[in-house]
Amino acid sequence: MAVKRIKILAIESSCDETAAAVVVNGREILSNVISSQIAFHTQYGGVVPEIASRKHIEKINQVIEQALTDAGTKLGEIDAIGVTYGPGLVGALLVGVAEAKAISFAKNIPLVGVHHIEGHICANYIENKELEPPFLCLVVSGGHTHLVKVLDYGVYEVLGRTRDDAAGEAFDKVARAIGLGYPGGPKIEKVAKEGNPYAIAFPRAKVADGPYDFSFSGLKSAVLNYLNGCNMKGIPVVQADVAASFQKAVSDVLCANVEKALEEFGAEKFAIAGGVASNGTLREALREVCEKHGAAFYSPSPIFCTDNAAMIGVAAYYDFMAGKRDGLDLNAVPNLRL
Ligand code: KG4
Ligand code: ZN
Repeated sequence: MAVKRIKILAIESSCDETAAAVVVNGREILSNVISSQIAFHTQYGGVVPEIASRKHIEKINQVIEQALTDAGTKLGEIDAIGVTYGPGLVGALLVGVAEAKAISFAKNIPLVGVHHIEGHICANYIENKELEPPFLCLVVSGGHTHLVKVLDYGVYEVLGRTRDDAAGEAFDKVARAIGLGYPGGPKIEKVAKEGNPYAIAFPRAKVADGPYDFSFSGLKSAVLNYLNGCNMKGIPVVQADVAASFQKAVSDVLCANVEKALEEFGAEKFAIAGGVASNGTLREALREVCEKHGAAFYSPSPIFCTDNAAMIGVAAYYDFMAGKRDGLDLNAVPNLRL
């Protein structure tokens, strides 16, 4: 007997990407449409929530239609709608949630609210068909830094999280301080290639009462103090050295906690996720840590690291199969916790 193909339409609008995708059985991506607003926010040096919401409203129908067309399907063939309902910018989330509820109501299609971080973790299932829980996952994005034990599909234990800035947020703030602009991560990575990662000794913070927690605000302040010091002493700032030394400090701190967790829990599989996971230096450093500890290393392609709807469709599939359904009272939850 043929296995039923569960086709999910997924919608993501938690920050500055309006995205829709069609995903079959949680692993097969039929379409993945992303409309980025980065160009609109760049001129302000960061995401402006009001602009994000308006741009989502302008684009969402178009993006969904494109995702259905690219997938060669129509709403009548969709088994469920998955939508990010948190965490994220409330006005941005509301656009996706309202749209998903409207389609669900009009076409009588089941609705599944998806946690954005769970989506990032699930991005690893797209290209690694053999990957199954349990595994250890580091989620590093613009809003989040989490070290998570993925115990089963939809079952997570958070080992550590950031106490202040997220890793991506630190990249964005440091990039702004050294005049690179938004979004900081890819720009720092590019400039760092020309710099010396050992040129400046930036601090590697440890959180005393949380062995797996992270803190990046001290590192950010150290970079700002260094820049001020150079300014006052009339010493020229070598942008590439600052970028490379900062990037190395972030990577060292992330690797140290991952290494500790691999040792303590003897995890056989490790995966990274989130926008910062597209950073080549970080990926290589984590791959080496995994090799040292005999753990298999998994990572999504960069397009599935930064915000997209395919990852939301994957997470929605596993939630749907576990019986999760949401009603028309589903609301955006900006500070939703994993
Ligand atoms: O996952 P994401 O697209 O959105 C959130 O859920 O936050 O992550 C965006 C973050 C931004 O802070 C961006 O600067 C960072 O990911 N990022 C990077 C790179 N590409 C994006 N950070 C470091 N290196 C990169 N190549
Ligand atoms: Zn994200």
